[in-house]
Amino acid sequence: MSHDLFEAARGAMAFAHAPYSKFPVGAAIRAEDGKVYTGANIENLSFPQGWCAEPTAISAMIMGGAKKIVEMAVIAERLALCPPCGGCRQKISEFASKGTKIYLCDETGVKKTMTMDELLPFSFETELG
Ligand code: THU
Repeated sequence: MSHDLFEAARGAMAFAHAPYSKFPVGAAIRAEDGKVYTGANIENLSFPQGWCAEPTAISAMIMGGAKKIVEMAVIAERLALCPPCGGCRQKISEFASKGTKIYLCDETGVKKTMTMDELLPFSFETELG
């Protein structure tokens, strides 16, 4: 992974709206168009209405006109590694392939690299997709 994806995820984390958990998360996607799309978690006073950094980045990618995650980086300020939560794994998999690499980062760089299939094995598949 080139350093720019890590830097983009770290930069995105600064935009987190996390006044309740105080747990900022950043995500960055390199899409098939070569562009980098970023996101941060956005919480809400009505707690279940908040959402994670990963879907913010996916939304940016979709609204930018891209559809495929080539690689993705995730970072949290307060965790040495931030494995995407279960719901995010499913959301990421919609736009990834089994071999898509996901980089789990801390403030200094990539700490662990995992494939989509390692993060979400035996995933839900139907004839629809
Ligand atoms: N969070 C993410 O943004 N991504 C994850 O994969 C795990 C959790 C956010 C949700 C919430 O705003 C905060 O981290 C604490 O759970």
